[in-house]
Amino acid sequence: MAFSLDRRGFLKAGAALASTTLVPVRGRAASPNGRLRTAHIGVGGMGGADLRSIASHPQVEVAVLCDVDQTRLAAAHEQHPGAKTFQDYREMFSALGDSFDAVVVSTPDHTHAPAAMMALQHDKPVYCQKPLTHEVFEARQLRKVAAQKGVPTQMGIQVHSSAPYRRAVKMIQSGVIGKVSQVHAWSNKNWGYDGPAFTTSAAPPETLAWNLWLGVCDERPYVPEVYHPGQWRKLIDFGTGTLGDMGVHIFDTPYDALQLTAPRWAKTTCRPPTGVGHPTQNIVEYEFPGTAQTTDTLRWTWYDGDFAPPKSEQLQLPEGLQLPGQGSLFVGEGGYMLLPHVGEPQLFPEKQFRDYQPPEVEVVSHYHQWVDACRGEAKTSAGFDYAGPLTEALLLGVVANRFPEKQLEWDAEQLQVTNLPEANELLRRKYREEFQVAGL
Ligand SMILES: NC(=O)c1ccc[n+]([C@@H]2O[C@H](COP(=O)([O-])OP(=O)(O)OC[C@H]3O[C@@H](n4cnc5c(N)ncnc54)[C@H](O)[C@@H]3O)[C@@H](O)[C@H]2O)c1
Repeated sequence: MAFSLDRRGFLKAGAALASTTLVPVRGRAASPNGRLRTAHIGVGGMGGADLRSIASHPQVEVAVLCDVDQTRLAAAHEQHPGAKTFQDYREMFSALGDSFDAVVVSTPDHTHAPAAMMALQHDKPVYCQKPLTHEVFEARQLRKVAAQKGVPTQMGIQVHSSAPYRRAVKMIQSGVIGKVSQVHAWSNKNWGYDGPAFTTSAAPPETLAWNLWLGVCDERPYVPEVYHPGQWRKLIDFGTGTLGDMGVHIFDTPYDALQLTAPRWAKTTCRPPTGVGHPTQNIVEYEFPGTAQTTDTLRWTWYDGDFAPPKSEQLQLPEGLQLPGQGSLFVGEGGYMLLPHVGEPQLFPEKQFRDYQPPEVEVVSHYHQWVDACRGEAKTSAGFDYAGPLTEALLLGVVANRFPEKQLEWDAEQLQVTNLPEANELLRRKYREEFQVAGL
């Protein structure tokens, strides 16, 4: 059976592939029993959900589990007793690199890039949680190396494959509300911390490998309930705030539907930086160059924390429109489309769209699509060629949070802020020596 890599670096297989045939993706051999052997880095929290969803594919064999927290590792191992276990992903690759085919990265944001890059350097397909990376430079590099390696990749924005989001993309691209001039996107979640640096500390739990959890970040003492699990999102060294957390889901549909590229600039309204946490509330404005779906330029505004949802006086809302806690609003020349984070797209003014029939869409499993792509039977829809630029745009807004009210002029080709040299220092982190990986 012939197969080749397409322009986006994905495996393109002939249509007649039998569903049980494992097509070797570039750089690795098929497993002996024809199943895709997966290795999972981070198996608690969302990693547990990722593990269940990927393991539910009938052609997957969970081969390796890796987590820095032994309690979480043991819970996952109970579900997959045949899998090998590790606490350190670097050891996992050096000891067992030939015994698995594909890698799932579900760690906190600061470990996405080093773990995913190590997988790519071993020619492994990667499913990586969102946002693709913590730093702008990392997103650029993952996209480049994934294209060079030609292995299937997918970012963990599972709603990208859901019927409402797919339908919304189709509706916008059919021109139902005409050319779009503005997007407003918001989340009333609050993944920020406005307080001072932490002065207390304690010994980490015996079950947690704290140095491995810190990974590429500078060493510091463990503080209970501040970092692990989940709370790291609020802190600038580890997470990306509400914009990086929920924004990736909520930015995705407008970014995809409007076929946006890199923003021209980004500007944030928030409190002054503290050097510790992301601001608890932000308004981030962007300007994007126009596309076939937009007016000459596109203005995009993000609101989070207490700034969300935006107030009607901030928007020219259709009369009587109640905004959900999380979602986006497309402002077109011929109407509005509201897309709740969970729910179907709605068109306004209602009277104008009373007889509108929304298009049918095909529903796919975001997870199984990646597994099928690894087996040469599908293409992923949120590969790193798409996820990279989306994440770069989003993270520019996170960088802008550190320079309130300053408009950061962006040269995407050169990967630099042209009017504020100090902002460029926040595009790329210096990794601790022992966690260096080629390409980053
Ligand atoms: N797609 C979604 O809907 C969705 C939802 C929630 C979280 N997420 C994403 O999933 C990721 C994890 O978030 P979470 O809320 O589960 O965080 P968490 O802190 O609850 O869990 C992270 C897991 O990774 C483990 N871990 C940490 N560092 C590790 C390392 N170096 N090597 C191996 N394991 C490591 C932790 O022990 C823990 O089990 C984040 O990137 C987050 O943005 C996505």
